[in-house]
Amino acid sequence: MSNKTVIRNVNEHVGESVIIGCWVNNKRSSGKIQFLQLRDGTGYIQGVVVKSEVSEEIWDAAKSLTQESSLYVTGIIREEPRSQSGYEMTVTGIEILHLTENYPITPKEHGIDFLMDHRHLWLRSTKQRAVLLVRAEIIRAIQEFFNTNGFTKVDPPILTPTSAEGTTNLFHTKYFEEDAYLTQSGQLYMEAAAMALGKVYSFGPTFRAEKSKTRRHLIEFWMIEPEMAFTDHEESLRVQENFITHVVQSVVKNCRTELETLGRDISKLENIQAPFPRISYDDAIQFLNENGFELPWGEDFGAPHETAIAEAYDKPVFITNYPAGIKAFYMKPDPNRPEVVLCADMIAPEGYGEIIGGSQRIDDPELMAERFKEHELPMESYQWYMDLRTYGSVPHSGFGLGLERTVAWICGLDHVRETIPFPRTLYRLYP
Ligand code: 4AD
Ligand code: MG
Repeated sequence: MSNKTVIRNVNEHVGESVIIGCWVNNKRSSGKIQFLQLRDGTGYIQGVVVKSEVSEEIWDAAKSLTQESSLYVTGIIREEPRSQSGYEMTVTGIEILHLTENYPITPKEHGIDFLMDHRHLWLRSTKQRAVLLVRAEIIRAIQEFFNTNGFTKVDPPILTPTSAEGTTNLFHTKYFEEDAYLTQSGQLYMEAAAMALGKVYSFGPTFRAEKSKTRRHLIEFWMIEPEMAFTDHEESLRVQENFITHVVQSVVKNCRTELETLGRDISKLENIQAPFPRISYDDAIQFLNENGFELPWGEDFGAPHETAIAEAYDKPVFITNYPAGIKAFYMKPDPNRPEVVLCADMIAPEGYGEIIGGSQRIDDPELMAERFKEHELPMESYQWYMDLRTYGSVPHSGFGLGLERTVAWICGLDHVRETIPFPRTLYRLYP
C-alpha cells in the first residue's frame, strides 16, 4: 500500500512508494522515457515514466496526459540533486481523473486581458501561485505583529450610513428603506473601538468607486487599520516603521523561493529596516520645485511626484504634515502651525507609491464640530462619532495600510491587479 502525501512533504518519503493527487503542468518525452512536470498546489515534482519498467497500460496513460489533466500518480520518491526541488518520482502507477482538452493558457505569451478573463485558471500558474503565497505570508506577519504588540482585532461594519474618507467615491446601495454605502475605511468605528480596548486593528475589505485606472487603484481592496488611544502622531510613526520592517523581513525569511520565482531583488527588501526617513510636506514641495516640477504649496501630490520623492531614498519615506485643506476632516492640526495637520503618508520605494495613510485625530469636541460645518457633513449622522469626543476624549492616532499595494511592492509587480485573487478594477467584475 502506498501512502497518500503531498509534494511539499516528499522529503519525508525517500525510498518509499507514495500516491499524490496532482495536475500536469507540462510534459516532455525522449521516446523511451516520459517526464511529467507535476504540481499539486503545495509544490512541483518531476515524475519519470520509463517504458521498460511499467505496463503498456501505464505507459499509454502517461502518453495521453495533457496540460492540466488531473490524476493520482503513484511512485517511488528519490533524491535528485539536479532537480530544483531536490526530489524526483519514479512513476509506477497512474490513475487519470480527468483528461483536459484545449487548456486555454499555454506556455506561450498571452495578453493581459486574455489572462484576466481567465483569472480563475491563471491562478494555477507558477508566478501567480507565488504571489498568492507571498500575500498569505504578508497577512500572517501583519496579524502576528499586532497580536504580539498588545492590539486586539476588531471588525468594523461593511454596510455604513455615512462616509469615512470623503463623499465622492461611495458605493451606494439600498438598506431596505434607507440609503447605505459600502465602507471606504473602518477608521471611525475603530476610533470607537480604541476607546473601549486601547489598541485595536481591523483587517477587511474596503470599497472605493474611484474612476481611476492606474496601476495602484482597485475598486475593492483590503485595508489594515490600527487605532491607538493615548498615542500621539510621533509614537504612531514609530509603530508604522516597526510594523513594515516586521512584514518585509518575515517575507524575506519565509518566502525566499517565491521571491526568486518572481525575480525579485531580495537585497532591496533586506535593506528595509526601521527607522525610515522623513520629509515634511513643505520640504517635499521645495524638493519637487527644484527638480523640474511646478507645484504650488497647498496642492496634493500625484503619482509622479510621489515617485520622484521616493527615488531619493532606498527605504519607505514618510511625508509628514500636509496642508489641512487637502486632508481628511478628522486630522488634528499641528498646535504650532494650524494650517498643517499631524499626518503622514508612507511612500514605498521603487515607485510603488503611498502604502500607508495615517494621522493623529482631532480630540477637541469644539474643533471637531467646526470641521463638520466646514466639510458640510451632516451632524446627525455622525452624532455617535462626536460622542467619542464628548465622553472621555483622549489623544489618539491611527493609520491604514493598503494590502495590495504592499503585496505589489514586496513582490516587485507592475500592477496591483495581480496581487489579489480576483481583482475588481474599473472595467472588470468578471470572473
Ligand atoms: O490614505 P487612505 O485613504 O486612508 C484611510 O482610509 C484612513 N482612514 C486610514 C486610517 O487612518 N485608518 O487609504 C489608506 C491606504 C492607502 O495608503 C493605500 O495603500 C490604500 O489604502 N488604498 C488603496 N489601495 C488600492 N486601491 C485603492 N483604490 C486604494 N485607496 C487607498
Ligand atoms: Mg491616502
